This record gives sequence, structure tokens and C-alpha cells, in this order.
Amino acid sequence: MCLAASGEVAAQQSRESIGLEIAVPHHLADGEEFMLPLRDLLGYGERLFSAVWTSQEGGGRPLTKGTGAAVSDVANPLTFPRNFNRISGPDANACAGCHNRPYGIYGEPNPFNPVGNLRTGDAPSLDVDLSRRDLPLPRLAPVNGVVRVPAYSDFKLHDITTGASDPNCEPLDMLAVPGTSAFTAGNARFLTRRLWGVGNEPPYCHHGLFTTMREAILAHAGEAIAERTAFASLPPDDQNAVIEFLKTLQVLPPGTQWLIVNEKGQPKPWPPHRRTAS
Ligand code: HEC
Repeated sequence: MCLAASGEVAAQQSRESIGLEIAVPHHLADGEEFMLPLRDLLGYGERLFSAVWTSQEGGGRPLTKGTGAAVSDVANPLTFPRNFNRISGPDANACAGCHNRPYGIYGEPNPFNPVGNLRTGDAPSLDVDLSRRDLPLPRLAPVNGVVRVPAYSDFKLHDITTGASDPNCEPLDMLAVPGTSAFTAGNARFLTRRLWGVGNEPPYCHHGLFTTMREAILAHAGEAIAERTAFASLPPDDQNAVIEFLKTLQVLPPGTQWLIVNEKGQPKPWPPHRRTAS
């Protein structure tokens, strides 16, 4: 009887999901994080990290202003055509939209160098074969001749601040000519931090003022406001799953034998502590 009832619930759920367009159809129930094998839990966190949220699950921030504050009239949400205009942040569709995995082979001089810098053909090119066996280990293995680097950055500049009064802005624009108004106008655009190693390379952001990744994530606004809002509206367990995934992105000391380690460099035990039956 129990089985029949749960079968009915499952059938009901799959009926309800037909035609749904959502990035994450199943969210963890409270406590499920302790039952799942570690690999599955981290996979779930990675799935949230790369989820491209749809309007059916709150994507496009229909209930918030550009700053993340709630809209004044909640009965009048910012749905199409008044929804978030992604032109201001074309990559801003998921955490992984900016913190992505570029691929290709780096060469110097390379064809992407801007005018005024060394271009291809100006000088003999320096080629390093990253798959050479005599380079120090461990190394990334080439797949079909390409070494894919899980850097988790689009290597682009973004403004993820709330504007000039945001405490994360720099008061001076060090790339402008000193003494000009552009120089004193300050700077709000920063390179997407590569998350390679983020798990054991605190503190965070260009200023290093955030000691936890959670603070850094919640400081995202501007071009990343949709993702910050999506993260902030996840249930606490889902937010924790994203943090757990980020904690696995570590630069491991030479000789480490495990790929997923805890703070002490030992293989990560899961569940983190035994729950006692009450
Ligand atoms: C629009 C592009 C963009 C999106 C989308 C985005 N980020 Fe970021 N992220 C950045 C930039 C730019 C920085 C560096 C900001 C700085 O240095 O002040 C950053 C910094 C960080 C840092 C600090 C890293 C360090 O080493 O200092 C973490 C952690 C982080 N982001 C996680 C996330 C997560 C999780 C999400 C999704 C909820 C997300 N980001 C979405 C652009 C983005």
C-alpha cells in the first residue's frame, strides 16, 4: 500500500513537470545532503553553479530593482517586456556564465594581443607544449590535442557593483592617465576572478576584504545581480551545496593523492558528522 501511494506521488510529480522549463527540477529535501554520497552532493552544487535560471523559477529578477532591493509595487512585477535587460551583462545568465572554463592553447605573441602590443609574426613565437612529460607533475592531460583549463573565468572585465557609491569600487582608475578626470572617477570594472583554487586561496575579490566566499557571492550586484538574487533566494541547503562545490576548487600541494580533500588535505569524509538517532 505504501508502495502504491508513493508510486502515485511520483506519477503526480512527473505529470506536473511536463512542459515545465526550469534549470533545476529537483531540489534537495532538508537532511538529504547527509544521505547523498559526497560525489552526488558536489555534482548537485556544480549543477546549481551552472544553472541558467528561467522566469518560471524566479530568473530575470521580476521582484527586485537593479540594486537587489524589492520592487516598490510587488503586484506589478518586472516581467516581459520590463524584465532584466541582459545586454548590460550578456554573460550574466549563470555563475558559470562568467566563471566558465575557457579552452584553447595559449601562445605568445598571440593573435588576440591588442594593437600596440606584440602581435603574431612580430617576433619569434614561444611555444610551450603543456603535455610534455618532463614538466613538473601533476599536469592537465590533453583531450584530442587540446588542454582544457578549468579556470572558471571568462577573463573579461565586468561591473558587478551597485554603482559609484558601492564600497567595492576603487576610488582611482589606475588604468587612466594620472591627473585626468577619468583617473579620479574611479573604477568599478574588475576581471572575473578565476575560481581555480578559490577553495584554498582566501581572502576574496580584488580588495581581499572578504574572508568567506559567501560574502564575495553576496557582494555581486550590477551585471551579476540576477545570479546574486537567484543565489540568495535558494534554500539554505542549496546555497551550502554551492559553497561545498566551490570548496573543492583547490590548488592541491604536490604529491596529494586525493582529488577532493578537506581543510587538512585529507580525503573528505562524508557525511561530515554522524547524526545520532533520537
Ligand atoms: C557578470 C559576471 C559574474 C557572474 C554572473 C558571477 N560572478 Fe563571481 N565574480 C565576478 C567578478 C568580476 C569577480 C571579481 C570581483 C572583484 O574582484 O571585486 C567575482 C568574484 C567572485 C568570487 C571571489 C573570488 C576571489 O578569488 O576573490 C567568488 C567566490 C564568486 N565570484 C562566486 C560566484 C558565484 C557563486 C556566482 C553565482 C551565484 C557568481 N560568482 C556569478 C563576475 C561574476
